[in-house]
Amino acid sequence: MDLQRFLGWRVATLLLLMPCGLQCLSVHIINEEPVHVIPGSSLVLKARIEHGPLEEISAVAWEREPETGLSPGRLALATCPGRSLGCSATRPNVHVTMEQQESTLQISGYSNTESGVYAVTVTDNKGAKATAHCIVRMYEEVHHVSVSINVSHSSLVCGEAWGTEPNFSWLYERAAVTQTVGRVSKDGTTLLVTMTPFCGHFTCTVSNKLGHSSATYTAAPCETKGSGTIAAVVCFILALLFGGALAFVLWRRHRHNNRRERLREHLDDTI
Ligand SMILES: *[C@@H]1O[C@H](CO)[C@@H](O)[C@H](O)[C@H]1NC(C)=O
Repeated sequence: MDLQRFLGWRVATLLLLMPCGLQCLSVHIINEEPVHVIPGSSLVLKARIEHGPLEEISAVAWEREPETGLSPGRLALATCPGRSLGCSATRPNVHVTMEQQESTLQISGYSNTESGVYAVTVTDNKGAKATAHCIVRMYEEVHHVSVSINVSHSSLVCGEAWGTEPNFSWLYERAAVTQTVGRVSKDGTTLLVTMTPFCGHFTCTVSNKLGHSSATYTAAPCETKGSGTIAAVVCFILALLFGGALAFVLWRRHRHNNRRERLREHLDDTI
């Protein structure tokens, strides 16, 4: 009785130590979804396979199906018959490797027709299956940048159509936006304008790995209170210069006269 209980405990402990008991086949794709691939570059998907101690992987298959659309056809890309043998791919640009607990799919010279939902299916020696999916899309360049105004909140909103991972940045009169102009929202899409009056040119630039594009919002022209000031300053400087020159000329003449007088005195003395 005691021995039985002891053995029972041992088995229970063993099962606890193995997170999923004796049978647990699972697979997941490590890449963060959705994966965006620049056309012409390589798509690399890695799948991690977990299985119980008594299980053995007998097949790994990679497939693809369209993300949307009416034809839900699955296209086989590659299969691996277990761990020991090599994998075979259905296309020349597809390459699959199989290691201990990892399978890697690589597609070189990626094109948009290869976007879709990728699936990896693992089968064990008892016929149990596990599948993982990953959405793969083409990396798109920035398209159709526009800036619109939200009059009620005196803010400018920058929009972009369908570029991948867009990064927003703002310029005011071709210089970086400062605290005196306004505040940019955390995601960069909105510029809350705090300067008064609301005037001048505001430019939003959207960029990603493939390039950038911008749009400018033109508010009312800024009051040129500057030009009046500048004119006044210029007049002041001119007046100073003129005054200085006049003073110099007068001083020179005065000194000259003095010297002539002194010379005459000197001559009178000597004669
Ligand atoms: C203006 O911005 C506010 C705050 O973000 C928002 O609630 C409102 O809908 C916006 N108005 C327009 C016309 O977009």
